[in-house]
Amino acid sequence: MAISAETIRQLHPYEKRILQTLEHLMRTHSWVPLDLLRRSVGFSEAETRYRLGSLLEKGMVRYDVVPYEGYCLTFLGYDTLALLSLSRKGTITALGPLVGEGKESVVYEALAIGRVALKCHHVGQRSFQSVRSSRDYIGEKSHCPWIFASRTSAEREFEALTRLSPRVRVPFPIGRNRNVVVMEYIDGRNLHRVTVPDPGDVLADVLDQVARALAAGVIHADLSEFNVMLDAGGVVLIDWPQWIPPDHPNADQILAHDVETIVRYFTRKYGIRADPREELAWVRG
Ligand SMILES: Nc1ncnc2c1ncn2[C@@H]1O[C@H](COP(=O)(O)OP(=O)(O)OP(=O)(O)O)[C@@H](O)[C@H]1O
Ligand SMILES: [Mg+2]
Repeated sequence: MAISAETIRQLHPYEKRILQTLEHLMRTHSWVPLDLLRRSVGFSEAETRYRLGSLLEKGMVRYDVVPYEGYCLTFLGYDTLALLSLSRKGTITALGPLVGEGKESVVYEALAIGRVALKCHHVGQRSFQSVRSSRDYIGEKSHCPWIFASRTSAEREFEALTRLSPRVRVPFPIGRNRNVVVMEYIDGRNLHRVTVPDPGDVLADVLDQVARALAAGVIHADLSEFNVMLDAGGVVLIDWPQWIPPDHPNADQILAHDVETIVRYFTRKYGIRADPREELAWVRG
């Protein structure tokens, strides 16, 4: 389910209060008991149940009755809290349509000073366990690991964009709240969706951006044709939450893998003859 500006506008102040209170109580409870929630918001049981019913319908909360009646936020509920904060602060003024949906995020178009992209990080959407093994920054104990992991993922992506912009062509970072990163909207297409007339130049442009990022202390670590966009100014590298610094113990292997993945893509699709090892040596300078 996607969020719409309409759903957010129609939220009753009591529903917002319940979302905020649930978030707070989820620091100590993975499922918040109904009675605790009711006492914390200060509504009658009937009022609490009525508002929860409406939030359930909107897909912003979930509930379970075993081992006790408890409620928790969904990704949609958590995204909503972030969007409410961003709009209160004036970082965004209007929410637009969904523009991309990845394994662990949903991306919306929105308005701020101009057109922006909102990336809502959803880490642990499918299975938290499998994510835990592949992303090593989910270390801290939390009653609600997906909230912690999604917020950390957004923080990491925002940090990379801040370090890289504008020396490397990445979306310019504008703001962050909870698990949501607000960044420049790239008016272009994903590399894997287009056939370019000058593949050699595009590959050289990607490798140039990789070299600049390395010089700025950032290795992408998930580079592929899916995370490269093309706009009027050339290539733009996107999707940075898993970046690592060059002094990471596996930095050499990870950088080599990034370069190999992108070079092999150009060889497979366009028949470009390039040796990943030579390109890697060039990137390292
Ligand atoms: N700044 C942006 N401007 C325009 N479109 C964007 C922007 N950022 C992302 N997108 C679109 O949304 C899609 C998903 O974004 P992104 O690759 O960052 O996340 P992801 O693929 O979900 O990440 P993960 O690796 O966790 O699955 C992109 O492929 C792209 O089409
Ligand atoms: Mg991606």
